[in-house]
Amino acid sequence: DKKIIIAIDGHSSTGKSTVAKQLAKALGYIYIDTGAMYRSIALYAMRKGFIGESRFDQEKLEKDLPKINIKFEINPKTGIAEALLNEENVEREIRTLEVSKHVSKVAAVSAVRKKLVEQQNQMGENKGIVMDGRDIGTVVFPNAELKLFMTATAKDRAERRYLELKERGEEVTYEDVLKNVVNRDHIDSTRKDSPLRKASDAVKIDNSNLTLEDQFEQILVLARTAI
Ligand code: C5P
Repeated sequence: DKKIIIAIDGHSSTGKSTVAKQLAKALGYIYIDTGAMYRSIALYAMRKGFIGESRFDQEKLEKDLPKINIKFEINPKTGIAEALLNEENVEREIRTLEVSKHVSKVAAVSAVRKKLVEQQNQMGENKGIVMDGRDIGTVVFPNAELKLFMTATAKDRAERRYLELKERGEEVTYEDVLKNVVNRDHIDSTRKDSPLRKASDAVKIDNSNLTLEDQFEQILVLARTAI
């Protein structure tokens, strides 16, 4: 079997990572969550006080970029890659609504994108990889053998994300989560550098009315055909 690159893009909270993990497991591929990389840099900026409610000192963040090292380490219990920010495991902290509120501003900075895209390109050098994000099929791997673009109604997506955060014990309201999902999509789709859009050769999957099982079955067929 030849190894391929599978690029998964789409709006916030469309279940990209769920599908990507399932696919990677079924194919014996590596899974890379690029959102975790942007979230880790956002967390760094928040901790340093570079970013807050209504301010963002982009210059300070840009100056610190060479000092920021993002890596993944496999959790031996789950087999899933977890994000390391300068050697510290930040997998839990980057998933909070607080980080979600600031990440899209950080992800709009070209110097941030340049750094992470370079690293992502290297990760795909040997293929056999499933990568999810916003610009994977358009910018990171424009020649990926299979591209998926996932979407669902904002209401469905906010409901899922809300339940997920509640389950993890976060004090959030549905309204706040919905606002965040809509706001991130807006910033991600309208930024100048690598805006979120469907690659012309990506297969669009609207999963508003699909069960996880049905969705995965469809996607696995696409993957096997591409390989
Ligand atoms: O995928 P996730 O929702 O965790 O991504 C968090 C944020 O990171 C997105 O809303 C977007 O602003 C940014 N992102 C990006 N490009 C990627 C992956 C994520 O701009 N490839």
